[in-house]
Amino acid sequence: MIITTKKLFEAAYGKYAIGAYNINNLEQTMGLFRGNLDSKAPFIIQISKGARSYTHKFMLEGLIRSADQVFSDAIFAVHLDHGDEETCYDCISSGFYSSVMIDASHENFETNIAITNRVVDTAHAKGIVVEAELGQLGGVEEHIKVSESEAKLTNPDQAAEFVNRTGVDSLACAIGTSHGAFKFSGSQGLHFEVLEEIQKRLPGFPLVMHGSSSVPQDEVARINAAGGKLKGAKGVDADQFKRAAELGVTKVNIDTDGRLVWTRVHREHFIEHPENFDLRPVGKIFMTEYAKFIAGKNEKLGSAGQLEAVRKMLAAK
Ligand code: G3H
Ligand code: 13P
Ligand code: ZN
Repeated sequence: MIITTKKLFEAAYGKYAIGAYNINNLEQTMGLFRGNLDSKAPFIIQISKGARSYTHKFMLEGLIRSADQVFSDAIFAVHLDHGDEETCYDCISSGFYSSVMIDASHENFETNIAITNRVVDTAHAKGIVVEAELGQLGGVEEHIKVSESEAKLTNPDQAAEFVNRTGVDSLACAIGTSHGAFKFSGSQGLHFEVLEEIQKRLPGFPLVMHGSSSVPQDEVARINAAGGKLKGAKGVDADQFKRAAELGVTKVNIDTDGRLVWTRVHREHFIEHPENFDLRPVGKIFMTEYAKFIAGKNEKLGSAGQLEAVRKMLAAK
């Protein structure tokens, strides 16, 4: 059942975070649904602009509609990840997405507000919810002076003003993470103090953490042992998700870790079976491993075991 992220956030706020997982193909879709049902978790499917154009924008829609029938117990939202204004309007008018992200975080504050306002007006008119972003992810390096690095993190006063002026439904905040497998070069970590200040100004308002892959070191070691070259890859400590959730983070974005599962499975398989040229054996292993990975993440996020509570909440309304 496809629902809005807003409903999922009502159920989760302050208690746990919902996993928001990017997909690009059939095998990820199967593993995603299996892993979430195995761990009895509500979840968010994220589709990026790149994922929409990887094959054809209707292909992922078709896969998800079919998965909704095959896995009829699943409860999830379908969300456009890092949309520009044009892609947001395309997703809103498609009637398929329950949620879009407008990412104008690279623009100045006033332009970001103006663009976000336009998308919020269009989306809300159709009952679709909107995530926006304020602050800049990534690049918060150890060698950068405190004042410089803080300039890239979300400013809590600006966050409150942004939310009040745009009417957006959730806000992606920069708290020290970045996208990809190389997040930290040293001892950096999450800036909980920024989340605390934002929560004080916006109590009850759902926050989103991008760049949240953990880049598990055993996964990196296996990839490198099978011929990969991911030297120095490092991610977010998954044991910190629950603290983030208590501070208002209701959505945690994970893509890179899933790509690492795919890389490890395929590298190891073809080294162990050099004679193989059939895509199904390795695809089956990947679906199983991806499902296990999703279930494990949901345990860390606290969303595992929450599916029936969400179903009851929806039935009561
Ligand atoms: O934040 C970006 C996501 O990891 C999606 O990546 O644009 O390569 O699909 P992508
Ligand atoms: P990772 O690269 O850490 O998986 O982040 C994904 C993300 O933020 C998608 O929007
Ligand atoms: Zn992101």
